[in-house]
Amino acid sequence: MVTILVTGCAGFIGSHVCTLLLAKGFSVIGIDNFDPFYSRAVKENNLSGFLHHPSFVFYEMDITQGLDGITEKNISAVIHLAAKAGEAFH
Ligand SMILES: NC(=O)c1ccc[n+]([C@@H]2O[C@H](COP(=O)([O-])OP(=O)(O)OC[C@H]3O[C@@H](n4cnc5c(N)ncnc54)[C@H](O)[C@@H]3O)[C@@H](O)[C@H]2O)c1
Repeated sequence: MVTILVTGCAGFIGSHVCTLLLAKGFSVIGIDNFDPFYSRAVKENNLSGFLHHPSFVFYEMDITQGLDGITEKNISAVIHLAAKAGEAFH
């Protein structure tokens, strides 16, 4: 099974990307740190549709602190969406 790493998986775009990848049969590793830029509850709701999918693994971690905690091997691609989107405007 092809494995894709998605950063910012609890965010608006990331959660939709994860949903699509899982529906297409990919294995997905998702990372998010629930950055307080906006509500954690919104992000948990974003995750809720696939958090327990058998092909999804979630890591609550900050990508700026390194990715050493990830144990999965053979990651084929990284989709990097972790961001403080729009922060420059606040
Ligand atoms: N939403 C849009 O319409 C839109 C349009 C064009 C481009 N984009 C880009 O897509 C990307 C994602 O946007 P979005 O709307 O999904 O934003 P979002 O804020 O909903 O999602 C970003 C996610 O990244 C996480 N995150 C932030 N810093 C992190 C860190 N250090 N480690 C781990 N996770 C971290 C946040 O907790 C959040 O869940 C951004 O780069 C944004 O600029 C968004």
